[in-house]
Amino acid sequence: MRGLFDLQIVTAREKAELLRDRKGGRPIAALTAYDYPTARLLDEAGADLLLVGDSLGMVVLGFPDTTHVTLDHMLHHISAVSRARPGALVVGDLPIHTYDTPEQARKTAERLVAAGAEAVKLEGGVRQAAKVRAICEAGIPVLGHLGMLPQRVVEEGGYRKKGKTRAQADALLEGAMALVDAGVFGIVLESVVGETALEVSGKIPVPTIGIGCGEGNCDGEIAVMTDLIGSFPWFVPPFARPETDVADSITQAVRRYVSRVQGGR
Ligand code: KIV
Repeated sequence: MRGLFDLQIVTAREKAELLRDRKGGRPIAALTAYDYPTARLLDEAGADLLLVGDSLGMVVLGFPDTTHVTLDHMLHHISAVSRARPGALVVGDLPIHTYDTPEQARKTAERLVAAGAEAVKLEGGVRQAAKVRAICEAGIPVLGHLGMLPQRVVEEGGYRKKGKTRAQADALLEGAMALVDAGVFGIVLESVVGETALEVSGKIPVPTIGIGCGEGNCDGEIAVMTDLIGSFPWFVPPFARPETDVADSITQAVRRYVSRVQGGR
């Protein structure tokens, strides 16, 4: 089974528009991907959107958080994913400190696109609107990201649930509206309490794609691939719903291999 998009039939902008038009329709199934084989497998299994997320800093490169991810890291992994030529929309994260001004944001987005991204994602609301506008004006689709923002984990001193109070919910709504006005085709909501995620989803005209927001509160879901397949057992977020246990399969396979190779001597 292929995903929503037939290979090469639609342009990046058309793919983003097709996803935007899924508001209120079939939920969007998005996943992170960081390499060629995973991108092929996810695409062939029907994912709508592949995010080369800066979570790769943690689950692939072994950093403690995403603030260590550089533009070079992102370009390397985006190229690998794009070589799979997925029909799903390939979105690349703008890493921290590569979008401090609208001009820098546009230039970084263009670098990601030159490496193979079809759209980009950046974190934050009202303060990022001018940057989103600059990227959209360059013809590059943008996905927003609100709620818990991993690039701020050091400043905020940990990963905390967002949208718990009326004031927080209003701030999220204000951020979402600013991103919509600036031209995003969708918004990732991360670790937002379910009721608030549902409220934001109901009030904006583009799809929300939730992670850690409860089921059915957004217009789609995104999962970090290692959470879905259980291949990074050292940190599993409380909201993860693993569908398999790849860490255990690897351990068992390697034990059998070691015993086969060493067994006779
Ligand atoms: O980097 C990432 O994987 C993300 C997802 C958690 C949405 O931003």
